[in-house]
Amino acid sequence: MAFDLKKKVAVITGGASGIGLCYAKALLTNGVQAVTLADVNPEYGNKAIREIDNEFGINRAIFVQCDVRNIEDLERVFYKTVEKFKFVDILINNAGILNDAIWENQIAINVNGTVNGILVAMDKFFPKYKQSGEGVIVNIASITGIDFHPHVPIYSGTKSAVVGFTKSWGVREIYDQKKTRFVAVAPGVTLTPLILDIHGRNLGPVYEQYLREKLDNGMYPTQEPEHVANELVKVVKHAENGSVWVVEGGEPAFEYIPVDPRLQRKKNVLKIK
Ligand SMILES: NC(=O)c1ccc[n+]([C@@H]2O[C@H](COP(=O)([O-])OP(=O)(O)OC[C@H]3O[C@@H](n4cnc5c(N)ncnc54)[C@H](O)[C@@H]3O)[C@@H](O)[C@H]2O)c1
Repeated sequence: MAFDLKKKVAVITGGASGIGLCYAKALLTNGVQAVTLADVNPEYGNKAIREIDNEFGINRAIFVQCDVRNIEDLERVFYKTVEKFKFVDILINNAGILNDAIWENQIAINVNGTVNGILVAMDKFFPKYKQSGEGVIVNIASITGIDFHPHVPIYSGTKSAVVGFTKSWGVREIYDQKKTRFVAVAPGVTLTPLILDIHGRNLGPVYEQYLREKLDNGMYPTQEPEHVANELVKVVKHAENGSVWVVEGGEPAFEYIPVDPRLQRKKNVLKIK
């Protein structure tokens, strides 16, 4: 049965701009009662709240300044959410940066930030404050976490981690205890500031050259953030625990099903004597 979005409350990290803000608006359009935009940038946050007030009416959204690298910040986000809206049912773990030139920071935001969100939602707040039988965590991965993107190997690795979290936490045994459904969305190239000034956000010339060649050859189909947001709504409602959904080139979401390496045991043995 589909997860009913009606009257639910969602927290969206990195929700003050880019695809995150589109997730907020798509969820509100589809029945969600209220959203918390948890973002490091107060200027974007306040602007986003004004936009949502105008489009959806007041008291449908709050902004809470938060750096996802700090678990205390995320706890405060959830406290403020239940203080204002009484409940919390959905977490969209979306905050992320793409910049291998500052890779330690990137790992802290994309990886630690995602884990922080998961632990705070699943262990501290969903048990007390979710309204129906389950809470939902959507981890935002990327196509770069599924196939290879040598211009940003470290970013790619952070997004593979997000896929791994989703698949490993998203098993029946954990679901039965925690009543939290884990899904991931892996967008392809989406037209936001994250990719509009992509040049230089890597480890140097060889990576930059690789990127330029791929862009010149039109290797990356693009899409609008609103499209990803509409597909995310379907994933929140219908996707199974532990599933990962690719959204690329403006096409409908499709499930990423990794090949079980044990099935390749005979075929791909290492031939070294
Ligand atoms: N744009 C793409 O092509 C694309 C493709 C695949 C995946 N993604 C992923 O989607 C997510 C959103 O990307 P986007 O394109 O909207 O990026 P964006 O740069 O447009 O927006 C990111 C938002 O995250 C916020 N943020 C950054 N660091 C933060 C922190 N430490 N704590 C809290 N908030 C923080 C920013 O202030 C901003 O509002 C990211 O995880 C990104 O990796 C994007």
